[in-house]
Amino acid sequence: MIKVAVLGYGTVGSGVVEVIEKNQAMVNKKAGEELEIAYILDLREFPGDPYEDKVVHDVNVILEDPDVKIVCETMGGVGAAYQFTKAALERGKSVCTSNKELVAKYGPELLQTAREHACNYLFEASVGGGIPIIRPLNYSLTSEKIEAITGILNGTTNYILTKMEREGADFDEVLKKAQEKGYAERNPEADVEGHDACRKIAILSSLMMGKNVDSEKIKTEGITKITPADFEYAKASGRTIKLLARAKALDENTLQAMVAPAMISRENPLAMVNDVFNAVLVTGNMLGDSMYYGRGAGKLPTASAVVSDVIDCARHQGKVIMCFWDKEEAVLADSSKSASAFYLRAKAGSQEAVKAVIPGGRILELPGRDEDFAYFTPVLEEGAFEKICEGLGDLILGRIRLDA
Ligand code: HSE
Repeated sequence: MIKVAVLGYGTVGSGVVEVIEKNQAMVNKKAGEELEIAYILDLREFPGDPYEDKVVHDVNVILEDPDVKIVCETMGGVGAAYQFTKAALERGKSVCTSNKELVAKYGPELLQTAREHACNYLFEASVGGGIPIIRPLNYSLTSEKIEAITGILNGTTNYILTKMEREGADFDEVLKKAQEKGYAERNPEADVEGHDACRKIAILSSLMMGKNVDSEKIKTEGITKITPADFEYAKASGRTIKLLARAKALDENTLQAMVAPAMISRENPLAMVNDVFNAVLVTGNMLGDSMYYGRGAGKLPTASAVVSDVIDCARHQGKVIMCFWDKEEAVLADSSKSASAFYLRAKAGSQEAVKAVIPGGRILELPGRDEDFAYFTPVLEEGAFEKICEGLGDLILGRIRLDA
């Protein structure tokens, strides 16, 4: 029997307990040994909960029990979660986590600690909720040189954008619903400002490069400036709007990476990814494109990914599962030099002024919209485009990158 401890009895932590309990026989069979939830670490009490007698408030109870071989870190944050993870790994206990902030910040260090103590640090649930994406990158696509990864990596913002498009719904109201469904971060700013997606693309691109990609250096824009008017113009031009996280390897050391809303063609496979669903499009040099799709947030999908890691740890006791993610920093290319076409929404009457400074684009005017128009620009460098927009000042009401 293997004792398992869960750190944090919130949405994901309670989901982990539920998945292990509901799928007990099958989980034990696949793990090759019986798994027992021995401890749940939380500051709170849970009177009446079937696992209330497993709740402890002192992490040392877990760290000092030699029979605890696997720890699920579902606390979030980079403070106590880092200390407890490090301490568990130093004692040879494998750690499975859904904590993308911690993985993005300390991934290579914690992987090294795990290697030094013949245990594992696994983080399938940190990207794409229940979608298997870390394991495919680590195990299945090992013969590939990964050239690019593009994903819808945040369930909350995809849910919000889908509702805005379909129902013209109010941003705050939809965000509240996403929170009630357990999709959103404790601080939803991390979702709507793109930081959560940024951490996830940093993790995926680190695995793509085999080197560390610093999430803080990735240019990141959220969805707070997207309006129903933008969706009207997107629809009229056969497009939709998605928050895309992108990484492209330029050479062995250098990559381009960005998180930003994009107006994409309805033909793009990512345009079909709606609600809480996430998708990751991976381009390899031999395979070409492959896409991974599923529920990107929520209690049970995320917990299911954590438990898949628990099973992997049980199967690999005393053995280190290879993961290529070195401490060496990958170089992020200057984002101001990357090029894209843009959608601009500008004040009515400024058509000539916009065309004069960005020639060669296409104007779209919609019946019933007298206050603004859309302009689809030719391909421009980010930095140059930024300067042009500054020059146009408050004539510009909105702008979004255009993608195929
Ligand atoms: N808040 C995250 C999301 C949870 O909405 O995708 C899953 O990482």
